[in-house]
Amino acid sequence: MSTSLHVSVDPWNPDWTVIARGAAILKRGGLVAFPTETVYGLGANGLDPLASRKIFEAKGRPPDNPLILHFANPRDVETVAFITERAERLMRLLWPGPLTLVLPSRDRVPHTVTAGLGTVAVRMPSHPVALALIDACGVPIAAPSANSSGRPSPTDARAVAADLKDKVDLILDSGPTSIGVESTVLDITGPKMILLRPGGYPTETIEEASGEEVLLSGGEAMRSPGTRYRHYAPLLPLLLDNEEGLRHRALSFGGRVGWMGMTGPERYFTSGEVGEGASILFDSMENYARGLFHALRTLEAREEIDVIVAQWPTSPKGLGRAVQDRLARAAGAQGERKTR
Ligand code: TXA
Ligand code: MG
Repeated sequence: MSTSLHVSVDPWNPDWTVIARGAAILKRGGLVAFPTETVYGLGANGLDPLASRKIFEAKGRPPDNPLILHFANPRDVETVAFITERAERLMRLLWPGPLTLVLPSRDRVPHTVTAGLGTVAVRMPSHPVALALIDACGVPIAAPSANSSGRPSPTDARAVAADLKDKVDLILDSGPTSIGVESTVLDITGPKMILLRPGGYPTETIEEASGEEVLLSGGEAMRSPGTRYRHYAPLLPLLLDNEEGLRHRALSFGGRVGWMGMTGPERYFTSGEVGEGASILFDSMENYARGLFHALRTLEAREEIDVIVAQWPTSPKGLGRAVQDRLARAAGAQGERKTR
């Protein structure tokens, strides 16, 4: 068995010895990065306060931002949360998949996981490697996205290693994730279902499946602590193409532009203004979502560009809402930036 930090795992036929090694690390309080269908997660034993605290240290995550507990079986959720008929219905219809439910928490969930909110976020991912790992360790796995706090989420193992190489005990590498944006977070503790974070399941899908309306929370930042913080910040300035005076602003950063979107940059820039080959195009909203974080990490690493410009999806339909949310937050994030 390999003892290296970074191990490839076939997503369709996970090697049992590798899964067992990951589970053993989790059981003794270590950290394992693993693939889900949305983004890679940084996992720890979700019932062990010391282990889950390590997640915050590794990521540099503010301690008042709670974690999601991941399950391999909906039946196990009642060990950590109080389940309503509505929760049961949503789990039956939409799990496994990119849906996180916020439910009233039982006392046994550590405060490091819930941030003392009295609620707990739960999700059953559909990725076979995630499911095998959770199953093998026999406890819910607490896992945020496996990036340094404030950076774009990791959609492949290389991005995980770039941020957390010295801070995890094992990285399970199953190639790029299929959805590319994190799960949809839904608060179902009150009379109406409230969207805390748009994500891999469009709100329309949830409304159709449940027959209930999903309220788009205006005061999102108040309810989901994670949305308060700096997020997804690339190392280069990021502008959105719906900004006033875009061309002028973009060129004021200096030399050349890196572009990402569903159509090319010609509407705004001449070919000489766009860095050589620094234009990343997506042929559908699903592919925009899938490639968004990777595109940010790719463009920020290109020496020949000074600013990234992303095309704003005009419609929030389908995955458009999640793409809008990630782009808006990435552009609004004032991170440390490369200076050239
Ligand atoms: O797709 C995903 O959800 C990925 C994969 C790894 O499962 N995980 C993920 O975790 O994105 P994280 O920690 O990056 O985002 C979790 C979000 C944060 O915005 C957090 O504030 C919110 O869920 N959250 C967690 N527990 C909560 C709670 N009890 N009440 C409200 N929001 C909660
Ligand atoms: Mg995250």
